[in-house]
Formats: sequence, C-alpha cells, structure tokens
Amino acid sequence: MHRALLRASLFLTASVLPAVAAAQPLSAFATQKAERLLRDKHSCLGCHQLKGEGGVLAPKLDDVRTRRDAAYIAMMVSDPQHTKPGASMPRTRMPAAERTLIVRYLGGDTTKIVRTATANPTSAPADGKQLYAQWCAGCHGPTGKGDGPNAKALPVPPARHADAKAMSARSDDALFDTIEAGGAIMNKHHRMPAFGGALGSTEIRALVGYIRTLCQCQGPAWSRDGAAR
Ligand code: HEC
Ligand code: HEC
Repeated sequence: MHRALLRASLFLTASVLPAVAAAQPLSAFATQKAERLLRDKHSCLGCHQLKGEGGVLAPKLDDVRTRRDAAYIAMMVSDPQHTKPGASMPRTRMPAAERTLIVRYLGGDTTKIVRTATANPTSAPADGKQLYAQWCAGCHGPTGKGDGPNAKALPVPPARHADAKAMSARSDDALFDTIEAGGAIMNKHHRMPAFGGALGSTEIRALVGYIRTLCQCQGPAWSRDGAAR
C-alpha cells in the first residue's frame, strides 16, 4: 500500500474504531509517553515496579498482561475499588487520553475502561486508625515513623507523621489537600498518591485526625482559629 494511504487508514482506524486501535502496537513515541506518565507524573510506581524501578506494595506492571486479561487491566486502572474490592489501590484521576494510553500500554482493552467510577463503595464509619493501616502504613509505617516496608523503594522518604515538629507546621487543610489530591499539588513528590478517588472527605478527615494523634500535635495557631474541620 502507498505510504500516505497507509498512514491515512491507520489514522481513520485509530479515530473511528478505538476497539481495533487498542489491538495495534503502540509506536515508540507512545510507549515512551506511557512510561513517562507511569513513572514521572502519576503515583503508580509508588506501589508498583516497572522496568526495575518502583515500589513493592503491588504486582509488577511489566508483565501484568501475562497474568490478567485485557478487560481486567482496563477496569483495574479505571475503577480499582469496584474491580478488586478491598485492594489498596486508589483510583488515579487523569485525563481520558492518558488513561487510554496507559491501558493500551499495559495490554488492556480500552473499550472496558470505566468512565464514571464512583469513589469509595464502603459504608463503614470512618476509622482513621484502620484507614491508615490499610492505605498509608505500607509507606509511612504503622505508627507514622516513615518506616513502612515500602519506604526504601521510594525516591524520597515518606513523611514522618509521628514527628511533632514537622507536623505542627502543617495545617489540617494542608494535610487534607495532600491526602485528597496527592503530593504533586503541594509541591511534594508525585509518588505520594492522591486518595480522593478512593476515599470520601469524611474518611480523609478521619485520617487527618489520626495523623494528629500520631504526632500528638496540632496545626499552627493561625490555622486553628475558628477551624471547624
Ligand atoms: C497505593 C498503591 C498503588 C498505587 C498508587 C497504584 N496501584 Fe495499582 N495496584 C495496587 C495493588 C495493591 C494492586 C493489587 C491488588 C490485588 O490484586 O489485590 C494493584 C493492582 C494493579 C493492577 C493489576 C495487577 C495485577 O497483576 O493484578 C494494575 C494493572 C494496576 N494496579 C495499575 C496501576 C496504575 C496504572 C497505577 C497508576 C495510575 C496504579 N496501579 C497505582 C496498588 C497501587
Ligand atoms: C506509595 C507510598 C505512599 C503511600 C501509600 C502514602 N504516602 Fe503519603 N507520602 C509518601 C511520600 C514519599 C511522601 C513525601 C513526599 C515528599 O516529601 O516530597 C508523602 C507525604 C505525605 C504527606 C505530606 C506531609 C507533609 O510533610 O506535608 C501527607 C500528609 C501524607 N503523605 C499522608 C498520607 C496518608 C494519609 C496516606 C494514606 C491514605 C499516605 N500518605 C499514603 C508516600 C506515600
């Protein structure tokens, strides 16, 4: 086939038939972009390994396609809380194009991406200690000393929530926002995940309260005046 014609037909396939496009191999450029998203933008490698780099809290991503079927991969990346209830993987919010690329890169079926995932399906009352053990202790350590089993696999040490000096410099709102939206929005490392896609505000508030019991400290005086949180 003529080169330009081939390119045009590939373009048509990619834009009109996403299901077919999913089966086509990624270009070198797209592969690199997907790896950059996983490694340098999102918190995936906080928990998972890829190409020898990353955390030890979750299965390696390199060979997930040999263990899981394509539908499962797509659903896990887009709606972990419903795909594997109880798994300590928060749903990462990201633009649809990024999710599609990541799913394709991992060998997932892009037609099975869940577009309207809802947060936390549990109705249990928020228990900060229990939530911390499930979601945070792997990196921050069971008592917030920054010594979780995954701590050494991270490029920066996880914050020490038991450190009164450090934590009393943080307002409750700053802690809340970091937990909700991830390290990156607070100019911290992006491998501190965002939990707002998995936990509701009541649960995040319970976690902030639990951090206050770990440090036995309060936020700065200015942040406490009239704070209802
Ligand atoms: C806080 C840790 C954490 C983060 C961050 C995280 N995951 Fe996970 N992920 C897990 C855990 C734990 C599992 C295993 C769940 C199980 O099967 O019990 C998992 C499972 C998976 C699986 C299925 C793997 C398998 O072999 O069953 C895929 C695919 C996946 N994650 C992709 C991602 C991607 C992509 C990102 C980033 C957008 C990400 N994860 C972020 C913890 C995490
Ligand atoms: C995959 C590892 C990982 C997990 C899981 C994780 N964190 Fe973190 N967290 C980090 C790292 C690394 C940092 C430090 C980032 C930096 O200093 O740039 C951090 C920083 C923070 C901070 C900022 C502290 C400060 O100094 O302002 C808060 C708050 C926090 N984490 C809370 C939590 C809570 C609550 C959970 C569980 C819901 C949690 N983290 C789960 C890795 C993790």
